[in-house]
Parts: sequence; C-alpha cells; structure tokens
Amino acid sequence: MSRHELERQLERDRQRVEGYLQMRLSQEESVPPLLSEAMQYAVLSGGKRIRPFLVLESCRAVGGRETEALPAAAAVELIHSYSLVHDDLPAIDNDEFRRGRPTCHKVFGEAIAILCGDALQALAFEILSTDLIRQGVSTERALDCVRELARAAGPTALVGGQVLDLLGEKREGGERNEAAVRAIHEGKTAALIRACCRMGGIIGGAAPSLLAHLGNYGYWLGLAFQIQDDLLDITGDPEKLGKTARKDMAQKKLTYPSILGLEGARQRAEEACTRALEALRPLGEKGVLLAALAQFVIERQQ
Ligand code: IPE
Ligand code: IPE
Ligand code: MG
Ligand code: MG
Ligand code: MG
Repeated sequence: MSRHELERQLERDRQRVEGYLQMRLSQEESVPPLLSEAMQYAVLSGGKRIRPFLVLESCRAVGGRETEALPAAAAVELIHSYSLVHDDLPAIDNDEFRRGRPTCHKVFGEAIAILCGDALQALAFEILSTDLIRQGVSTERALDCVRELARAAGPTALVGGQVLDLLGEKREGGERNEAAVRAIHEGKTAALIRACCRMGGIIGGAAPSLLAHLGNYGYWLGLAFQIQDDLLDITGDPEKLGKTARKDMAQKKLTYPSILGLEGARQRAEEACTRALEALRPLGEKGVLLAALAQFVIERQQ
C-alpha cells in the first residue's frame, strides 16, 4: 500500500519539480544559448528526482506547505545535477553515459561541461535565496536553507567526499577499510540527502528535535543509497541504470563491496535502512512515505 502511494507521490513531485526547473532554466534571455542548452541537457534529462521528493515530503511530514518547499526541491536537484556533470568528467570518473544518454561533456565538450556545472551551482543558490521568500518562506528560514545547502555542497561534504573518492582510487598501500569508504560516502552522497530532509523540515517549521530526527534519517538513507549504488555498479543492468556499470573495480574505487564483498555490503545497506527507519519513529504515521522510500532505495535496480 505505501509502496503504491510512494510511487504516485514520487511521480507527482517529479512533474512538479520538473515544471519548476523548466521554467527557471528557460527564463533568462541573457544566458549564452550554448550554456543554456547544456544546463537544460544536464538537468532536464530524466533522473529519479529522489532528492526533490525528500525536500517536499519532509516538509509535508512536519505539516508544512509543499508549495513553499518547491524552490528548495529545485535547488537541490540543480546541485545534484551539477555534481553528476563534474563527476562524469574525464578528470574525475570519465563516464560516457548518464541518465540514458551521452554525458554533458561528450555532447558539449569539457570546457562547457565544467562551466555548466558552475552555472548550475550558482543558480541553485540564487533560487534558494530569492524564490523561497517569494513563495512566502520567512527570511530566517530561507537563510537557514542556504546554510544547509552550502554546507552539504561544500568542502566538508560533497566536494570533500569527491576528493576522498579520487584519493581512494590511488591509495596504494594506504588505508582501504570500512571507515575510509564510509567517510567518502558520507561526504559525496549522504550529506546532500541529509540536507534535503533538513531543508524540508526547516521550511515546514519543524522544532529542533524533529529536525535532528529528519537529519539522522537523511544521513542513514544517504549511506544506504550510496551502498546500493556501489552494489548496482557490480550487479546492475546498464540499460536500467542509464549509465555504464562495472567501472568501480576497474578504477580501483573504494566501495562497500570492495571492502566487505557483495553480501557484506548488502548487509550494511540493510543496517543503514533500519537506522533510517528508527530515526523516523518520532514522526509516527506522518513518516510512512519516507519509510517506504528507505525500503525502495535499497531495493531499487535503477
Ligand atoms: C547518482 O544519483 C549519484 C549518486 C550519488 C549515487 P542518482 O542515482 O540519484 O541519480 P539520478 O538523479 O537518478 O540520475
Ligand atoms: C557520485 O558517486 C557522487 C556524486 C556525484 C557527488 P558515483 O561516482 O558512484 O556516482 P555514479 O555511479 O557515477 O552515478
Ligand atoms: Mg564518482
Ligand atoms: Mg561516477
Ligand atoms: Mg557509482
């Protein structure tokens, strides 16, 4: 029942956030057409839109209005999409497929792909700081969201995690243990997912203790999400994934399966899912869709 409800809500939110992104990405006339095309290619390209769902659902779960959270849902998807464009660059993971089509740099060249990522990141913060207030969110809550997203996208989190991920590849004889891979995954993936839940909570007016629970849920969900991504790199179908599989081992990536094996990694993903569900307990019935998402994340094949 809640899986069916979840799928319906994911689809509704996907349409809503894509409409918003489309509007925001085609609004400015003074963007060079090539850049505008690259930005739209990178963002309006499929993608599960799980992060926007988390922003909207966390807001709804604490009794907030989803229309107020929509700009934050769009902003986080811009940050996520930029991170994928840069992650795929030859200097980072060197990937040729993303979301079922050639990567941004394959179509537009490396220079435009780098600049496209830069532009998406800046636009995310413009949207957060302008549109949230326009939708009726208080300046104080909007500023809290800007802080959450900046921290999660920054050097201690997403970018720091990407650096650890790169260093992990080259760690000849260095530390290759679970603590090292967990630090990578916390940074490159869990921090942004945690920020989605906290931003939704902030906009919905959650009390600090509830915000902390949502943040814990997001952290464990994010960890589970990236462990499943590691597993799918080994066991997944590239058609369904929309990206090349079986690359992590070739690139000597530090992943959960590389440390714990497939079964060990699966077990960790389940443990992280359980921790996510525990964090939701204080939300009671209000947390059912978030709980269904946690289950979905470790069962997903795409
Ligand atoms: C891929 O994220 C990158 C990771 C953090 C594992 P998603 O699996 O959410 O990618 P899209 O947005 O659906 O394409
Ligand atoms: C990506 O991790 C994390 C970020 C983009 C921040 P991966 O490199 O494992 O993601 P995929 O497998 O390319 O989607
Ligand atoms: Mg990567
Ligand atoms: Mg990658
Ligand atoms: Mg991966």
